[in-house]
Amino acid sequence: MKVAKTVREVRSAVADARRAGARSVGFVPTMGALHPGHYSLIDAARRGCDFVVVSIFVNPTQFAPDEDYRRYPRTIEADLAGCEAHGVDAVFAPAAEEMYGAGSCTTVHVSGPAEGMEGGCRPGHFDGVCTVVAKLFNIVAPDVAYFGAKDYQQAAVVRRMAADLDLPPRIEVCPTVREPDGLAMSSRNAHLTLEERRQAPALLAALRLGERLLREGRADACDLADAMRRHIAENAPLASVDYVEIVDPVTLASVQTIRGAVVAALAVRFPSVRLIDNMRMDPSPAGR
Ligand code: PAJ
Repeated sequence: MKVAKTVREVRSAVADARRAGARSVGFVPTMGALHPGHYSLIDAARRGCDFVVVSIFVNPTQFAPDEDYRRYPRTIEADLAGCEAHGVDAVFAPAAEEMYGAGSCTTVHVSGPAEGMEGGCRPGHFDGVCTVVAKLFNIVAPDVAYFGAKDYQQAAVVRRMAADLDLPPRIEVCPTVREPDGLAMSSRNAHLTLEERRQAPALLAALRLGERLLREGRADACDLADAMRRHIAENAPLASVDYVEIVDPVTLASVQTIRGAVVAALAVRFPSVRLIDNMRMDPSPAGR
């Protein structure tokens, strides 16, 4: 496995692989502290592509000044061992100066699907995400890029950006990997206190409650969101809800009356860490 720290090194690893006959390059962008959610994307890339590149870069531009950039977990040695074990061909792990040189002043701004939910709570977040993802796509030049449904809005925003800017990679979205009690795996879960961790499964339970009510015929999105908020208040008293939204799966526009597939997405703040989760749901069980 090649470990590249510079743009030049990773470009030449990919060029060498293509010259040696690799027909498809799969790419998994990450911020490291890798867990089974990340490895599910890497495994999908391994199954789907001849050459697999993973980037590990805690991207400063997607964190606001008051956010957790400094205390974001960094576990590079374990990450490299995990990548090796999962058959990754090349890891790109640049320093911040390699990605953002002196004088860097160009960013990507996405409106539409980037505006509500995480975009509303974390102004500038998706500009940072899209800027680094566009740069990584230009550096690695993959055929397929893999994202997790755990960050549903991020995947939708990246898909929109790739379409709007004619960026070549096909975007694949892989299912959310969860702990046995339903908590979506996340690098930030390590910061939960024992009591917060005990309450955290309330997020998925609230989404499941929303899905059950929808299937019972409750089509009013406000009703559903209220029931989900109440469930969190009762079962995770340490959490305060940032939002519970029911949106169109592609445009992420708010839905009032649910007639077809929607995505319910939520974010809560525990004293130690902020968590997000989401679920695609449909009024009829067969998804029709
Ligand atoms: P990071 O949080 O490290 O996540 C990297 C990828 O792993 C994302 O596509 C995310 O959705 C996916 N992922 C995380 N937890 C998952 C889970 N439990 N199940 C399935 N997939 C999961 O997202 C980022 O990094 C950054 O914003 C990045 C795209 C790398 C840009 O900096």
